[in-house]
Amino acid sequence: EKYNYGVIGLGVMGRNLLYNIADNGFSTVGFDLDEEKVKELHNGATPGTSVRGTASLEDFVSALESPRKIILMVPAGKPVDAVLESITPLLNPEDIVIDAGNSYFKDTERRIADLAAKNLHFMGMGVSGGEQGARRGPSIMPGGDWEAFNLVKPMLELISAKVNDEPCTAYMGKGSAGHYVKMVHNGIEYAIMQLITEAYDLLRKGANLNNDQLYEVFKKWNEGEMNSFLIEITRDIFLQKDDFTGGFLVDQILDKAGAKGTGKWTSEQAMEIGVSIPTIDIAVTSRILSAYKDERVKASQLYAKGEMKRPENIELFIKEVGDSLYLATLISYAQGLALLVKASTEYQFEIPLKDVVKIWRGGCIIRSVLLEKFYMAYSKDHKLSNILLDQKISEIVKDKISSLRKTASFAASNGIPSLGIQTALGYFEAYTTESLPVNLLQAQRDYFGAHTYQRIDREGIFHSSWQNLNN
Ligand code: 6PG
Repeated sequence: EKYNYGVIGLGVMGRNLLYNIADNGFSTVGFDLDEEKVKELHNGATPGTSVRGTASLEDFVSALESPRKIILMVPAGKPVDAVLESITPLLNPEDIVIDAGNSYFKDTERRIADLAAKNLHFMGMGVSGGEQGARRGPSIMPGGDWEAFNLVKPMLELISAKVNDEPCTAYMGKGSAGHYVKMVHNGIEYAIMQLITEAYDLLRKGANLNNDQLYEVFKKWNEGEMNSFLIEITRDIFLQKDDFTGGFLVDQILDKAGAKGTGKWTSEQAMEIGVSIPTIDIAVTSRILSAYKDERVKASQLYAKGEMKRPENIELFIKEVGDSLYLATLISYAQGLALLVKASTEYQFEIPLKDVVKIWRGGCIIRSVLLEKFYMAYSKDHKLSNILLDQKISEIVKDKISSLRKTASFAASNGIPSLGIQTALGYFEAYTTESLPVNLLQAQRDYFGAHTYQRIDREGIFHSSWQNLNN
């Protein structure tokens, strides 16, 4: 008997994805070098489903039907190359290898070419939703090889999350588009998480809310227009008790952030192809800054903050913080989506933005009801260069912008760090300003370096001899 799908890497994500595929009626075989993981594979499978584990790569390969459909779920970077090196000699032409990890898109481009030279199909595919998503329905972002995609599409549609019965998976474009879209998803994830932590900080420091009250606030937010996965899990975090102290777990966690690289790649990419995504950038750099705990402790003694000026109306303050979080989140999505628009032409990915926001509505970490509004916007105009230019979206923005300005100014005047909120607002103010003071900057560039400038009243490139009044 031959098996339909193979999964390499039986860590928690790989194992759960394999169970999910098996739950949907396919026979599956999983490979891992770690014998323990292979032995344990049966324990989590749904009774009656076809799941087999092996620690022999030869056994794994010969168990699969032709063309083989193999999904990699191993850590990004060298492990992917190591797996490819050992497996490709065992494969036949037309076999399909799908990398479902968080690989860097340029690595994916290289691997596509390497495997194509061996007549093998290689696809990069983003998968979001964490452990539970992988098991019960993730958002899946495949891209690249069209022929291979069509062979696995029915399976992907079955195992993915559903929103209004529609699968949260679609073709994300050519080449490494699947991994690119997942990278930007993660960049947006960084920004939203940063913004939520700032709202938390404002509420606990500015309004003195305790964890029980924070739970109530996030619960209420999650019941309305701010409904999203990240707000929902944040709500629940405020309930969790700590086994060691009996207090709240969140209060015992050290304030140093980890990161695995996808956020940084998003920022690097934006710089490389010239897209402004400051709220994502700041989210990356804030994690870096958080790691300087010892220095922050010293600096906090050197620069003690003044006394906090409490908001006059706490209810109103909470509402404004919520509106600010909502709008700054919207602006972060706008930045990430604008990066996808540019990348789509820059790398000839042909990313369907409408499908991106459609499949992000369920399953993934950044799912939120707000995405439904973006979906409507792209349905009206699939060429929209920035979501802020949509008429309907502009109405939401206009409704909330004064809250964002007030919250930013409250944070600034009370010395509460709010890098994400400030940059979301700053981006919005600059993006919506007809005339920026960059005329002066161009004059400076021309002054010291003859870098030339353009004029508002006539065509052409100009250079002036600027007078130095000191000479
Ligand atoms: C997802 C997540 C997932 C992972 C992040 C975490 O969509 O399911 O994005 O891929 O949790 O990559 O990234 P950091 O460790 O960098 O925060």
